[in-house]
Amino acid sequence: MLITFEGIDGSGKSTQIDLLQKYLNDKGYKVNVFREPGGTDVSEMIRGMLLNPEIDIDPVTELLLFSAARSQLVAEKLLPLLKKDVIVILDRFFDSTTAYQGFGRKSIPIEQIKQINKVATHQLVPDLTFYLRLSLKEAAERTRQFEKDRMELSGDSFFQNVFEGFEHLSKTEERFKAIDAGQDIQAIHEDIVSILEKRLEK
Ligand code: TMP
Repeated sequence: MLITFEGIDGSGKSTQIDLLQKYLNDKGYKVNVFREPGGTDVSEMIRGMLLNPEIDIDPVTELLLFSAARSQLVAEKLLPLLKKDVIVILDRFFDSTTAYQGFGRKSIPIEQIKQINKVATHQLVPDLTFYLRLSLKEAAERTRQFEKDRMELSGDSFFQNVFEGFEHLSKTEERFKAIDAGQDIQAIHEDIVSILEKRLEK
């Protein structure tokens, strides 16, 4: 089973992924967690380029680098793991490309982004996607004290468009489950577990 977490920077994905991994481990499930971009040597090297605030990257190049990092992760790790009886949790997947490179950067039309996503994922689609929905104002407050990477330095109107991208996906994708990420940590975790438990019963 493949579960992905999505949301703007500062929405609390890492905290919730840690809690969910512990919860599933305690129930006896084998769980593997990866972050995107990353999770393989090649993908982590590409991540270093993509997040480096010192370098300028053309929007189409950026799109292709995120996609290249993804293809390597899928081929090297995800497809072999998903053949076994394990749960894979991803901190971001191709929906982030739709939101950030599609709606945010407007690098190429969304329909073309969808095609690139299909290639980069080797057609792999998550079973369930938790979208941690948080207002831009609250996200900015949470991330204020941290040093910003190249993506996070993209400005307010970029992030407004990214937010709208995720909202669009949550209205159009059946697997997208929007969670109120403004709640306290435990309440968010409980929302996630209750949706997942229903899914695991099926
Ligand atoms: P992270 O900080 O959640 O690890 O993600 C790295 C940054 O890269 C974050 O600002 C979101 C961005 N990103 C994209 O722009 N496109 C993508 O496809 C992915 C996976 C991440």
